[in-house]
Amino acid sequence: VTAEKGGYEHFMLKEIHEQPKAYRDTMRGRMNAEGNKVILPELNLTVEQIKNIRNIQIVACGTAYNAGLVGRSLIESLVRIPVENDIASEYRYRSPIVTPETLVIVVSQSGETADTLAALREGQANGAHVLAITNVVGSSIAREANDVLVTLAGPEIAVASTKAYTSQIIAFTLFGLYLAEVRETQSEAQVAEILAAMQSLPEQVEEILAQKEAIKTYAEQISEHKHLFFIGRGVDYAVAQEGSLKLKEISYIHSEAYAAGELKHGTLALIEEGVPVIALATQESVLEKTVSNIKEVKARGADVLAITHEEHVTDLLRSVDQAFVIPKTLPLLTSALSVVTLQLLAYYASLALGHDVDKPRNLAKSVTVE
Ligand code: AGP
Repeated sequence: VTAEKGGYEHFMLKEIHEQPKAYRDTMRGRMNAEGNKVILPELNLTVEQIKNIRNIQIVACGTAYNAGLVGRSLIESLVRIPVENDIASEYRYRSPIVTPETLVIVVSQSGETADTLAALREGQANGAHVLAITNVVGSSIAREANDVLVTLAGPEIAVASTKAYTSQIIAFTLFGLYLAEVRETQSEAQVAEILAAMQSLPEQVEEILAQKEAIKTYAEQISEHKHLFFIGRGVDYAVAQEGSLKLKEISYIHSEAYAAGELKHGTLALIEEGVPVIALATQESVLEKTVSNIKEVKARGADVLAITHEEHVTDLLRSVDQAFVIPKTLPLLTSALSVVTLQLLAYYASLALGHDVDKPRNLAKSVTVE
């Protein structure tokens, strides 16, 4: 069994460590030799269809839904097409407004999630083109979708999804760049800059993995708590939601992810002496605002860990108790790095509490009932 796990204690830890490879495999062959163009020959979407897209709906469940939140911010900033995110089990019953100019993107690691499959059918019934981002080529979702963008994360065994989520982020980035090329919303130079930054991500993930002992120590501290909060703005908020789901799923510690600016509209009442707050603060454009929110929780006694870049550490350490530094990348791509710290945090918290990391209670790897 340890051989299957490649010498790691759990599949989850193995899969966390497989992310650099998953990033490389998902990017491989999908850019030109000059590194200034994304090529996705597998897509049936025509140039004309891409030019006519009026809105995009990203539909998925759980972690795949959380990847879609990042996908939204990527696509909106690269292409300026309005994007909505939907939970698959909600999408079908809210009579979504779908037209033939709507692109529906369903995201699913397994390609077998019943609600996501039903959402795909709902989109198609309303005349939408449906693109599936999935990790399993022969899956039901891959077979029924009009287009498939495969993530090459390799088999994911642990119930808690890690490398599938980050590969979905890579796929969204490539797809967003592809749309941007066709619709001419980004210059070749801008595309080249983003592709170059993407190529550095695998090594940067390795740098984070090399610091896992520090995360383990922090995880052991938080494992003694009953509740905690994740806060962030923009894409940091999207990552906070994934970090919170991961932690709940395998450590059974209750946590909430909050948009940092929304805390004072109610949730701040839950902050008291010693409550851990994990603040994602990677986005320079909103850093000052996030720091104000950190001060709000600090003033109520919270114990704050910031996840940020080197250049902001000195500043942040004036307001937080601890900081964890992630390597520098473009603001658009930080999610592909920051989430790795939260995956490790969930893993080590679960381990400290003695839970079954790979098979958490009440959960199945693939949910094939609606
Ligand atoms: C992830 O950690 C969860 N186990 C779960 O939320 C999962 O992402 C969800 O059930 C969707 O699965 P899928 O990607 O296979 O469709």
